[in-house]
Amino acid sequence: MSRYPRLGVNVDHVATVRNARGIDHPDPVRAARLAVGAGADGITAHLREDRRHIRDDDIARLSEELDAPLNLEMAATDEMVAVAAKFRPHAACLVPERREELTTEGGLDVTGSRDRLGEVVPRLREAGCRVSLFVDPDERQLDAAVAIGAPVVELHTGAYCEATGSGRRAELRRLKDAAAHAERIGLECHAGHGLGFETVAAVVAIPTVVELNIGHFLMGEAMFTGLEGAIRHMRALMDGARAPA
Ligand code: PXP
Repeated sequence: MSRYPRLGVNVDHVATVRNARGIDHPDPVRAARLAVGAGADGITAHLREDRRHIRDDDIARLSEELDAPLNLEMAATDEMVAVAAKFRPHAACLVPERREELTTEGGLDVTGSRDRLGEVVPRLREAGCRVSLFVDPDERQLDAAVAIGAPVVELHTGAYCEATGSGRRAELRRLKDAAAHAERIGLECHAGHGLGFETVAAVVAIPTVVELNIGHFLMGEAMFTGLEGAIRHMRALMDGARAPA
């Protein structure tokens, strides 16, 4: 059963650990199955240009073996559009990508890449994917997302998670304002990046956010309490923060 907000568990870093040894263990598809059993509504995986964690065969197996929606995070390149067209994941989330970055460090510049993104979004939609754009909580980016025909945005929560004190409150305000703007202009609103037990509740409390995508924190926590326990606890925090009024 899908609850709101949905929890998408990102399994990239299971693959990071696997690839450190160049063998088949730990298997991100096994982690994905376990995540779904523990309360995840879907699985997210980022196939990067350099294949540093998730590989093409992981996407093939996640598509074939998993009984849950797959959200493919991808750069807006022809290579990745071809992967999406081949595997037809439930969702495709377009993210900016630079080889030298440790992780996805900022949102897409939709306003500055309208031509390219405006060409890629319809191709992904034709492949049957629900397309989302990973953006900073900035109204101009949301307006540009609508202009190029994207039905969904995922708000980048990294700045909110990294900030402390009044800085964090200000970042939360930006997220709330962006989520309200998304609702006004007809965009479905997701959120993710950097979320953990301490930061998730305030984002879940934004009523128009219908999906969170969480990976790194859960995988780190899994080392101490196990993946199933970490996901169950995250799910419980989310359910508690979105209790009926
Ligand atoms: N959403 C998007 C678009 C991302 O790029 C990532 C990182 O791959 C996440 C969510 C998950 O972020 P984290 O691993 O920090 O929870």
